[in-house]
Amino acid sequence: MKLEISLFGTEFQNPVLLAAGTCGFGMELSEVLDLETLGGFVTKSVTVEPRAGNPAPRVTEFQGGMLNSIGLANPGLEATRRDKLPWIRDNVKRARVLLSIAGHRVEEFFQLVEGFDGEEGFLGFEVNLSCPNDTRRAGSTFALDPDAVARIIEGCRARTQRPLVAKLAPNDPDVGGTARVAESAGADALTLVNTLPGILLGPADGIPELGAGTGGMSGPALRPSGLLAVKTARAATSLPLIGVGGVLGARDAVSYARAGAVLVALGTASFADPRAATRTVEGLVRWGRGRGVAHWTDLVTPRAGTAVHDTGGES
Ligand code: SIN
Repeated sequence: MKLEISLFGTEFQNPVLLAAGTCGFGMELSEVLDLETLGGFVTKSVTVEPRAGNPAPRVTEFQGGMLNSIGLANPGLEATRRDKLPWIRDNVKRARVLLSIAGHRVEEFFQLVEGFDGEEGFLGFEVNLSCPNDTRRAGSTFALDPDAVARIIEGCRARTQRPLVAKLAPNDPDVGGTARVAESAGADALTLVNTLPGILLGPADGIPELGAGTGGMSGPALRPSGLLAVKTARAATSLPLIGVGGVLGARDAVSYARAGAVLVALGTASFADPRAATRTVEGLVRWGRGRGVAHWTDLVTPRAGTAVHDTGGES
């Protein structure tokens, strides 16, 4: 099965990405995983100012997955520009990189786009509208406010020609409506979904297991919500979709393609096995070969009445 995808006027060598927050800026993971085997990766979300993040413990596990509240710990705009992007520019050639940006206020997204747009080392922006762990926003996410989604995406669009991917939330009761708002505002693609808000409490004392109290749930338990969000967005818009949530391997990646995602991103799975994304690429080749599927895009369900997901370039 051929895996190449033409998207955003460039080629992804395969549809498998690493999700934001699961691979830093690539450097750290490159010691255990050949990043160049992947379709690409999404960096840790960057905010204007450096952030130390939320109190420990920041991660806890349960049978269905993981709960995290990292609190957007990151080096901030200046240090990312100075230390992280040059490394990516010099070391990542075949994998495509999306730079994740996050703001506490609408204007901060604009500062980030303006601050990064002239730099090398990345293809486009993933606009993180859906972090559930921003204590300065009391856990409320922009993704649940259509006006905020429109303002942020419109403002980012006005400041960059690069691909702009809006990352939406799994607990959005109208994710189809939000997908349309993001599309009208100028998004080139959508990532669905971020983690789902949750809490784990110690049975003996009722004390939250995470230092911040609540967190975002990821892992296999998130997969049904991720698939539903992708399927709902697929019916609502023709934008290319990036499916995230509980992908453990090739089988789950194909499920996301069936829901309508042209790219898929692994997160929690690569904490348990840093090579999970590479294994997924290998597994997809076997999966397709075993079933006589010629091309990955043959598996991707288009919006009813349409046939292609490409937004540019040759297919
Ligand atoms: C975090 O940094 O707490 C997670 C980021 C996210 O879920 O968007």
